[in-house]
Amino acid sequence: MATDDQAVSGVVLTFFSTASAVGKTLLSCNMASELARQGATVVLCDLDLQFGDICNYLHLSPDQTIADAQESMKRMGSSFDIRECLTPYMYEDTVFQVLAAPLGLDEAYNIETDSVKKIINELRMIYNYVIIDTTSMFSNVNMMLLDLSTIVTFLGVVDFIPTIKNMKIGATLLTQLNYKDKVRLVLNRSNAKTRIGMDDVEKLLGQEFYHILPNDFKSATRSIQDGVPLVLADRRTELSRALRDLVSRYTNRPYYDDDDDEGYEGDVPAHEHKKSWLGKLFSK
Ligand SMILES: Nc1ncnc2c1ncn2[C@@H]1O[C@H](COP(=O)(O)OP(=O)(O)O)[C@@H](O)[C@H]1O
Ligand SMILES: [Mg+2]
Repeated sequence: MATDDQAVSGVVLTFFSTASAVGKTLLSCNMASELARQGATVVLCDLDLQFGDICNYLHLSPDQTIADAQESMKRMGSSFDIRECLTPYMYEDTVFQVLAAPLGLDEAYNIETDSVKKIINELRMIYNYVIIDTTSMFSNVNMMLLDLSTIVTFLGVVDFIPTIKNMKIGATLLTQLNYKDKVRLVLNRSNAKTRIGMDDVEKLLGQEFYHILPNDFKSATRSIQDGVPLVLADRRTELSRALRDLVSRYTNRPYYDDDDDEGYEGDVPAHEHKKSWLGKLFSK
C-alpha cells in the first residue's frame, strides 16, 4: 500500500458542476473510454457516492464497490490491493477499470473523506489516468478531490437563471481557492433551446468556455441504453467528435478527424501519455 505522496504520478481528471444532470457522468465515461481506447491505463471512479450512475451507464454489475474498498483497506492495512475492488469495463479492444459507488445509501453515508483520498492516491500510482465523477456540491469529499485533481472540468449548461447563478458561485469559489489554472470551464448541450445567450454567461462568469459540446439527446440516450460510450460506439456524431476533441486538448495530442480512421495510430503506448504536456507538468 502506498504511503508516500511524492511517489504519486497518475493524472487525476475530475468532473464537477454546481448543477445536476449537466453531463458529468456522460463526460467522465467518455473521457475514460477514449483514453483507454488510445492505450492508456485508466480507472474511472464513481464518487457520486449516494446516487452514482456509472455502472448503469456502462451496464456493469460490480462485485465490489468503494464501500468494500474502504472496509478492506482498514482491515488489511499494508496488504490491501485496490485492484481487487475494481470492475473491468470492456468493449471490443478497449478496457478500463471502474471503482463503483456503494450499492446502498447507508454505505455511501459511511464513506470517509480520508479513505477516498487514500484510495485515489493508491490508484494514481497504478494507472496513467484516474477519472473522477462527482456530485454537484462543495462537500468535504469534493473539496478534497478538487484539491488533488490535476485538471477539474467544471461543467455547465445554459438553461435557467438559477443554474447560471450557481455556476457563478462555483466559479468564484474555485478562483478563490486558487484553482483557476487547473479548472476548465466546459459548456455542455450548447445548442439546446434556451433564451439565455452564451456571451452573457461568459461575461457574468468573467471567463470564456474552454470547450463546447453540442446538444444531442438522441445519441446521448442511445449510448446509455446500449451501455457503450459514444466515443466507442458512435464516433461519427458531432457530440462524439466534440468529446474526443476535449480528450485531445487535455492530452495535447492533435485533434484528428477519423471518419475512416485512416492514418491514425489508435493505440498510443502508455508512456506516450506520460510525455504529454499534462503529464510533464503535473507528474511528480
Ligand atoms: N451533450 C448532450 N446532449 C444531450 N443530452 C445530454 C448531453 N450530455 C448529457 N446528456 C444527457 O443529460 C442527462 C444527464 O447527464 P449526466 O451525465 O447523468 O449528468 P450528471 O452526471 O451531471 O448528473 C442524461 O440523460 C444524458 O444522456
Ligand atoms: Mg452523474
